Amino acid sequence: MVSGYIPIPWHMLPVAATAALLALGQAAQATEALAQKNNCLGCHAVATKLVGPAYKDVAAKYAGQADAQAQVIESIRKGSAGKWGELPMPPHPKISDADLKKLAIWVLSAK
Ligand code: HEC
Repeated sequence: MVSGYIPIPWHMLPVAATAALLALGQAAQATEALAQKNNCLGCHAVATKLVGPAYKDVAAKYAGQADAQAQVIESIRKGSAGKWGELPMPPHPKISDADLKKLAIWVLSAK
C-alpha cells in the first residue's frame, strides 16, 4: 500500500453529496409548506416585495449579524412595524418555537 493512502471510497462521494442535497431540498420544501400554511406567502415572496419585504432582502439585511435568527423569530412571533415601510406585519403567536426556527432559517437562507 502506498504510504499516506487514505481508504475513503471516493466513488461513493457523489452518492453521498446527492443524498445530502436531496435532504436539503426536502427540508426547504417542508418549510415552504409551513410558510404556505401560516399564510406568510400571502404577504411575502422569496424574490419580490409583495405586502412585506422579499425574503432575499430580509436575508441580505441580516447577513452577518450574529443574532439574526433570534431577531427574525421575534419579528415573526410579535409582529414587526417600521423596519421596512409603512405597513406592519401582524403577530403570529400560535406558531411553535420549532416552526418559528425553521421559518427563520429558511427566510435567512433566501437568495
Ligand atoms: C398581513 C401580511 C403579512 C403576513 C401574513 C406575514 N407578513 Fe411578514 N411582514 C409583513 C410586513 C408588512 C413586513 C414589514 C414590517 C416592517 O416594516 O417592520 C413583514 C416583515 C417580515 C420579516 C422581516 C422582519 C424584520 O425583522 O426585518 C420577516 C422575517 C417576515 N415578515 C416573515 C414572515 C413569516 C415567516 C410569516 C408567516 C408566519 C409572515 N411574515 C407573515 C407582512 C406580513
